[in-house]
Amino acid sequence: MELFDVYSLFNVNVVSGKGCHVYDEKGQEYLDLYGGHAVISVGHAHPDYVKAISEQVAKLGFYSNSVINTLQVELAHLLGKTCGYDDYSLFLINSGAEANENAIKLASFHNGRKKVLAFHHSFHGRTTAAARVTDNPKFSPAAYMGFEVEFVDLNDIAAVREKLATKEFSSVIIEGIQGVGGIQIPNDQFMRDLRQACDDTETVLILDEIQSGYGRSGKFFAHQYAGIKADLISVAKGIGNGLPMSGMLISPKFKAVPGQLGTTFGGNHLACAAAISVLNIMNKENLIENAAKVGAHLLDELKGFKGIKEVRGRGLMIGLEFEEPIKEIRSNLLYEQKVFTGVAGQHTIRLLPPLCLSMAQADEFLTRFEKVLKK
Ligand SMILES: Cc1ncc(COP(=O)(O)O)c(C=O)c1O
Repeated sequence: MELFDVYSLFNVNVVSGKGCHVYDEKGQEYLDLYGGHAVISVGHAHPDYVKAISEQVAKLGFYSNSVINTLQVELAHLLGKTCGYDDYSLFLINSGAEANENAIKLASFHNGRKKVLAFHHSFHGRTTAAARVTDNPKFSPAAYMGFEVEFVDLNDIAAVREKLATKEFSSVIIEGIQGVGGIQIPNDQFMRDLRQACDDTETVLILDEIQSGYGRSGKFFAHQYAGIKADLISVAKGIGNGLPMSGMLISPKFKAVPGQLGTTFGGNHLACAAAISVLNIMNKENLIENAAKVGAHLLDELKGFKGIKEVRGRGLMIGLEFEEPIKEIRSNLLYEQKVFTGVAGQHTIRLLPPLCLSMAQADEFLTRFEKVLKK
């Protein structure tokens, strides 16, 4: 059997990792400014993390959601305390798209409305509802049509108010910072006005913090820069440092109805052990503060680089937009300078390193990047 050929691959076989580095089968080291697509939060093969999941899998990797799982309870308490949403509840699933599916579903169960409002250049995943609220028709086949979604421009509060005034919308879904859209940051006043517009029309506000959450922006959630609270928050990527897992944080205004949501694998023992370990490491090593500090340094320095059209970002979620296509720059970074980076469209490089990136590693990246730009 061959693999179904849907990915365009880097010509590198990554076989191991340590902190902010990965290694190929020949032992070549690469600086990881991509974090495996914003997934690696506490660093590759962190010893505490390795110990926690090794011990858990040796004891019990999985049992179903039909029994008490105290690891889920421990995770919910720790997450609530760490992110400042202590009074919310937690539902655990397996991927980012699945978290958004459940958020859209719960919102509609809650208010009985049908439509969802989303934003241009959004990305929310590739399953039914998540694909439909993603602003890219390529991801939605004919079978997904029928789900009602409308899109407005990011930061256009007048357009949002006009749509929500119809009271036809069950929810609004918005990324804390648009990732695939090229690191586009909604402005803080817009977020506060959006919160108000949702309150005025009893529309559920869903914050997709799958990429921008878990400390990446320099706060636990990117929307916390605006000082607002969301009704539902989806998290994934950094939550398990690579173990597939996601979650939905749920406001106390939603009442749990037995059987309404469910999953086989979600919240399994191994994933919970990983997620608990991630939060413990983040707290112990002050990784959110580190993301804020190292991210600010990178942003400062990169803004002084010639040849970049625009530098955008918060914390360790940074977009570098160029006039010209970035394919060659990225390829030189990888194959000559041994640096992994991400991409958003044809003109923007995305930096999404592990949150433990040190100042020295950030400077090392800047030196290698400068060499590529000077070519
Ligand atoms: C903002 C956002 N939402 C949702 C998703 C989908 O997550 P997953 O690929 O785990 O389904 C992604 C993935 O890149 C994302 O960046």
